[in-house]
Amino acid sequence: MKKLLYIVSAVVAIFAIIWVFSGKSNATQNKVLVAYFSATGNTAAVADRLANAINADVFAIEPETVYTEADLDYRNKESRASVEMADRGSRPAIANTIDNIEQYDVIFLGFPIWWGREPSIIDTFVESYDFTGKTIVPFATSGSTPTTDEAATSIHEIIPNANVVNGARFDIHVPVEELKTWAGEWL
Ligand SMILES: Cc1cc2nc3c(=O)[nH]c(=O)nc-3n(C[C@H](O)[C@H](O)[C@H](O)COP(=O)(O)O)c2cc1C
Repeated sequence: MKKLLYIVSAVVAIFAIIWVFSGKSNATQNKVLVAYFSATGNTAAVADRLANAINADVFAIEPETVYTEADLDYRNKESRASVEMADRGSRPAIANTIDNIEQYDVIFLGFPIWWGREPSIIDTFVESYDFTGKTIVPFATSGSTPTTDEAATSIHEIIPNANVVNGARFDIHVPVEELKTWAGEWL
């Protein structure tokens, strides 16, 4: 009788272990994309480091009309960036497209902070695909704005059917290990 109990317990334990591990392997099957816009290269550097760290596909959002230095002059109210950012409905055109976006579960979405939030071209990007049920993780570089919270709120308003998390702002020299640890939550 005791022997039978041992056998039953052993079988239950084996099934429990298999169940736990199969659950874990399912959880690591998320297909991940790093998509980013970068006007002057800072966010691109962080995005490439992140993609390498987590072995993700990368997509660089390219504006149909490249931003010149004059376009990016935030001290000039008439500059292209200032005009676009003053208009919440502005949707600057994107030159390239992603094939098979359906395959991705998680999209790390990178951009520079402009006027405290995401550049308008990011709004164009999130409106260009169906992100229903997908997780969007914003990340950004900035001069001093410390978080991507305002950007996350704004993006979520545009795509309410996506799971837009708060994300994070990084220094351009953020170490690869820090990015890997941070991203681990969504892999
Ligand atoms: C039009 C414009 C607006 C900006 N607004 C902010 C801002 O509100 N807060 C901030 O900390 N940095 C701001 N910056 C600085 C950028 O976020 C920062 O330089 C960023 O790292 C640039 O990234 P990129 O090289 O990928 O374009 C702004 C830059 C530009 C061009």
